[in-house]
Amino acid sequence: MATPKVAVVGAGLVGLSTALCIMETCPSCSVTILSDQFSPNTTSDVAAGMLIPHTYPDSPINVQKQWFKDTFTYLFAISNSAEASEAGIQLVSGWQIFKNTPKEELPFWSDVVLGFRPMSEAELQKFPQHRFGQAFTTLKCDCPPYLLWLEKRLKATGVQMYTRKVLDLWELHSEYNIVVNCAGIGAHQLVGDEKLFPVRGQVLKVNAPWVKHFIRDGDGLTYIYPGINRVTLGGTREKERWSLDPDPSTTKDIFDRCCLLEPSLQGAQDIKVKVGLRPSRESVRLQREILSQGGVKLPVVHNYGHGAGGFAMHRGTAKEAARLVRECIAALQDSSSRAKL
Ligand SMILES: Cc1cc2nc3c(=O)[nH]c(=O)nc-3n(C[C@H](O)[C@H](O)[C@H](O)COP(=O)(O)OP(=O)(O)OC[C@H]3O[C@@H](n4cnc5c(N)ncnc54)[C@H](O)[C@@H]3O)c2cc1C
Ligand SMILES: *[C@@H]1O[C@H](CO)[C@@H](O)[C@H](O)[C@H]1NC(C)=O
Repeated sequence: MATPKVAVVGAGLVGLSTALCIMETCPSCSVTILSDQFSPNTTSDVAAGMLIPHTYPDSPINVQKQWFKDTFTYLFAISNSAEASEAGIQLVSGWQIFKNTPKEELPFWSDVVLGFRPMSEAELQKFPQHRFGQAFTTLKCDCPPYLLWLEKRLKATGVQMYTRKVLDLWELHSEYNIVVNCAGIGAHQLVGDEKLFPVRGQVLKVNAPWVKHFIRDGDGLTYIYPGINRVTLGGTREKERWSLDPDPSTTKDIFDRCCLLEPSLQGAQDIKVKVGLRPSRESVRLQREILSQGGVKLPVVHNYGHGAGGFAMHRGTAKEAARLVRECIAALQDSSSRAKL
């Protein structure tokens, strides 16, 4: 097996970044991306793309911290390069504010983001309804630019991309040696994962170029995230709701909540409403599995279930998935050399 053939299912943030990590660490691999949707039609295109982690209850904190660190380091380097604007990556400073003092004053990621500190009294005066806050600088990815940048890099390394809905991973066994499942919420149907559920999010993307600082209410529901081109206003977290239709009363509610925090948003222009389904799970599914039928085996690497934190974690989980792919290749080479003996 000179050239292992790898199929990556899914062209959202997770699929594209995983394909890139595989190419970087296994240049002799032939990687093909199969996806029923591409940017701008994925969940990843709806996201605000802020690097503020959400905790996965069933993944060890040190592992989550490493994923976040890997992602932060990777994107920080891009933000400091000439690629920054094309890739849609920038540093952004702002405030996370609380009505009551939070249970844990120092989140696990506080020493990964830059300049994390309690807000001063003068800063808190901007938010009369809030009593406590944290100021820090983090990174933000603008989508679609970041996805298009990833696609461009993949094409430059020879990765093929095809529009195709995969109904069953097994259907790929005759064409590929290894399959990587990055189907996001699509994995619910594709592999019948009952632990995966949608958390619906509705956001507004507006023009308000004077807004330069992010503001996030510590409950995570209301946020204002300025990007290079547009400001994302959010949001909602609706468990198990599958509808992708924007809800007009929710739009008004989000706008009103954000204007309470940043009154200047009253002047925002060109309001577009977007809805996405966060692929949520108690932990990211990042593991190898061997499918087999009639003595034929197909190694699969799963990488999905990033919930509300795909952007915050994607590079770290992509690196781990690429490592699992290399393990699969080593196992295949081992068994094919034994077969020749
Ligand atoms: C409103 C909102 C705001 C968010 N804000 C943030 C944020 O600020 N920071 C952050 O870190 N995260 C945020 N997220 C979460 C983030 O969007 C997700 O964690 C991330 O996009 C998941 O990426 P993914 O590639 O797994 O999924 P997707 O982007 O959904 O990609 C899945 C891909 O798989 C394809 N696919 C699915 N099933 C099949 C199949 N059977 N055959 C072929 N292809 C298939 C799809 O077409 C798609 O291309 C937000 C999410 C929402 C909804
Ligand atoms: C996105 O969806 C629209 C509407 O269905 C379609 O016209 C467009 O071709 C899609 N874009 C991509 C890149 O698939």
